[in-house]
Amino acid sequence: MYAIEVHNVQKSYKNGVQALNGLNLTVKTGEIFSLLGQNGAGKSTLISILTTYLKPNTGKITMLGKDILKDSGEIRSYIACVAQRTSIDTHLSLEENMMFQARLYKIPKNEARKRMSTLIDEFELGQYLKYPVSSYSGGIKRRLDIALNMMSNPKILFLDEPTVGMDIQSRMTMWKMMRKIRDDFGTTIFLTTHYLEEADNLSDTICIMKDGKEIVQGSPFELRTYTRQDAIKVQFSNKENAKIAIPLLSKDFTQLTCTLQNDSILMDTTSSESDLIKVNKFLLKSQISFQGIEIAEPTLEDVFLRLTEKKED
Ligand SMILES: Nc1ncnc2c1ncn2[C@@H]1O[C@H](COP(=O)(O)OP(=O)(O)O)[C@@H](O)[C@H]1O
Ligand SMILES: [Mg+2]
Repeated sequence: MYAIEVHNVQKSYKNGVQALNGLNLTVKTGEIFSLLGQNGAGKSTLISILTTYLKPNTGKITMLGKDILKDSGEIRSYIACVAQRTSIDTHLSLEENMMFQARLYKIPKNEARKRMSTLIDEFELGQYLKYPVSSYSGGIKRRLDIALNMMSNPKILFLDEPTVGMDIQSRMTMWKMMRKIRDDFGTTIFLTTHYLEEADNLSDTICIMKDGKEIVQGSPFELRTYTRQDAIKVQFSNKENAKIAIPLLSKDFTQLTCTLQNDSILMDTTSSESDLIKVNKFLLKSQISFQGIEIAEPTLEDVFLRLTEKKED
């Protein structure tokens, strides 16, 4: 059974903005699913719909086999959501927050205490119990918020851009926490992100969306040709020099697609290191003056370009 099935969902806001435009995706039970897209793609809108906060205009959504419109009450008891703004009460300690959450979900006190100590141990949060949540940094607050939302033992946990603005160290701690939630608690994780690297590292399945619609869904392995293809970037002193060099490079490296980007030339490659050496040698031998040469990892924008080119083919 799928944890979530979204069929042809449309959502427009009162101001006329069409945030979702016939979106389709499926989330498997027990996986980490990343919805990847730039600002304004419609990620938060979809999370609001899946967490039953907003209703779609058209389309069909099934969660854990139930219809989201008919069985919203039951669905709500199976899910938890960590939104972009934290839901944790910053004036209270983590334990006070957790016991309060347990009361909301009518979890008996003894059971609640047991769950609380398991979560604190599993996520190594013991050191943060003493002081109110307000005394901690954004990254730690977010981790405490996730632990709080695990109190109800959700089948699906929604996280809206959980690592936005974090440094790489905090981001990696967060990834570890999410893997633990999947592996030790068996919870399905649905998260949104605009970091290509995060989706690639963390997820079992990635769905890339743009302008309210999915472009492609697959495993990081299946999407590798789009998300991992490096390019050789040759930088010139100005655009004119780059324009002059493009036909020379294309002629000698027929197998690499060359594109002009401002004052640089990007050459798509599947063997970046050996191609880097070859291109460098060629430039020196042909006495083409350039500023620098490097291997450039793809950005989300590059991935979109590749995907749309592929569709046109
Ligand atoms: N409450 C709202 N009222 C009107 N337009 C909205 C509202 N929320 C979001 N939008 C618009 O809908 C589109 C999708 O937004 P959103 O779902 O927040 O995207 P994302 O989370 O991917 O950045 C954007 O154009 C945004 O401006
Ligand atoms: Mg958003």
